[in-house]
Amino acid sequence: MCGIVGCILKENNDVAPILFYCILKLEYRGYDSIGLATYDNKIHVKKDQGNIETVNNRIHFKEMKGSCGIAHTRWASTGIPNYENAHPHLDDTNSIAVVHNGTLENYLDLKDELIKLGHTFKSTTDTEVIPHLIKIFMNEGLDLENAVKKCCQKLKGSYAIVAMSKDEPDKLIATRKDSPLIIAQNKDGYFVSSDIPAVLDYSRDIYRPKEGEFVIMTKESIEIHDENGEKIDPEYIYIDWSPKMAKKDGYDYFMIKEIHEQSLAVKNTLTQKTNIKKIIDEIGDIKRICFVACGTSYHASITGKYLIESQKGIPCDVIIASEYKYTAKTWDEDTLVIFISQSGETYDSRMALKEARKTSKTLAIVNVAGSAMTQEAEYFIQTQAGPEIGVAATKTYIAQLTAIYLFAGLLAENDELIEKLNKVPEYIEEIVKQEKLIEDISKRYDFADNAFYLGRGFSYPIALEGALKLKEISYIHAEGYAAGELKHGPLALINEKVPVIVIIPPGDDYDKTMVNLQEVKAREAIILSIGAKGDEKLRENSRIVVEINPEVTDIIAPLVYTVPLQLLSYYVTVEKGYNPDQPRNLAKVITV
Ligand code: G6P
Repeated sequence: MCGIVGCILKENNDVAPILFYCILKLEYRGYDSIGLATYDNKIHVKKDQGNIETVNNRIHFKEMKGSCGIAHTRWASTGIPNYENAHPHLDDTNSIAVVHNGTLENYLDLKDELIKLGHTFKSTTDTEVIPHLIKIFMNEGLDLENAVKKCCQKLKGSYAIVAMSKDEPDKLIATRKDSPLIIAQNKDGYFVSSDIPAVLDYSRDIYRPKEGEFVIMTKESIEIHDENGEKIDPEYIYIDWSPKMAKKDGYDYFMIKEIHEQSLAVKNTLTQKTNIKKIIDEIGDIKRICFVACGTSYHASITGKYLIESQKGIPCDVIIASEYKYTAKTWDEDTLVIFISQSGETYDSRMALKEARKTSKTLAIVNVAGSAMTQEAEYFIQTQAGPEIGVAATKTYIAQLTAIYLFAGLLAENDELIEKLNKVPEYIEEIVKQEKLIEDISKRYDFADNAFYLGRGFSYPIALEGALKLKEISYIHAEGYAAGELKHGPLALINEKVPVIVIIPPGDDYDKTMVNLQEVKAREAIILSIGAKGDEKLRENSRIVVEINPEVTDIIAPLVYTVPLQLLSYYVTVEKGYNPDQPRNLAKVITV
């Protein structure tokens, strides 16, 4: 997964600093290599392996001249991270430069054909076939737009690309299939990019080209053409995110800023109540719900299942998006398939959505306005978390949960549950005030190699999410378990060196979870509990307790008890000297 940018300035010759600024804003999409190409009498390329700032300190992107250029930040999928594999890629004659986000499935066949024709390749990426193909078609007499179009007809897989040619200076052609792309403009120039944060400082009106559309950018205009080359009138949407929201704003990392923004994310998402009610009314009768998601969104889905089944009695399934095909045949017109995704672009979820549309009602719960899934699902709810830059989802997760609670509460006509949500921002703020305590715990607690997270019922997905947060950013092996499963395996691994984090809010499952806590205590585990303030029994039986407002009972615990676990993962990671915003090998949006 990668980030791409293209920009043409109407008058100014200094596109490089703008490209650099934009690509820096997409660093969350990939950060193992970076490259820029600009046009100034010929195509100039600077690129290298390494994170954006480090490479820039070495090769000074901002010194590049030209008013038209493209940029790329890479997260290696085909070909290891190294200089040769960094984008932009060129054809043999250095006359075409291309940046690409996606994965080409047939690149090996295309590469073989091109090698037979005498082309030479410098990289082991899939992308490099693209500039070679475009060059062939331009040699046959096509202009850049038509050469890109013909090239795309040969590509199988996913792509968002921006191409430039020295033979048509100051022109960029961009297009997409199954990978995201947006365009924007202001009085100084035109922009194309993988995602909104790249352009927020320049414009808040964006358009997302549809598959089969081509973006033609020159110094005079930005146009959208359909497959037949006919100009179409794009409908721009206004993005309700301020540029400040996508900046660290004095915090050390985006992740901690985003954890602090969670009470606001809940408040803002609660404003969606009327929309959600309208959607529920439009959907009408359903006999079954199937949640489909990946990663953290999958954990939100499990909470959704427990809520809807317990409050409304509609049977629910939760499917990992990449595994959807085994279930798809069971979807019918009485099934509502709910897709949960912060980005709205996750490839596996989108493929499942395509399939679900054939048979069932579909609803997407996403955070990014105008993203692919908002266009592809029959209904969508937009969570109001604002832009999330840290790779590990935090505020988008709590916002997803808020939307799910509203959905379940309205579906079940459970006013009491909806009423409870209004106090969640306050509970979250109370926890954030304990940040220092959690930072201290992260220093005192020995999270050497392994950690277990235990929870029952509504606390089970909290345990899963807590463990995921820890492992993905601190690289400590962590497992989330349904507390009742403890005796079916993990208990064998518990000893005096193993931290066990027990999520034990007041409620129906309290006593049973306490029994599980005793089981790990008997094996001398280091017990950190998250429970109600004033719970003396818990204090007596745990090494450390993080105390939560006792009004937070099990049913709303996912919205609140997750927060100390996010803080714990953050501080353990910072204490170990890692960057929590950019965990190794991971990226925020998985479009491949
Ligand atoms: C990646 C991100 C996670 C996210 C998952 C699903 O793995 O790093 O934070 O939970 O993708 O993404 P989605 O955008 O569909 O929620």
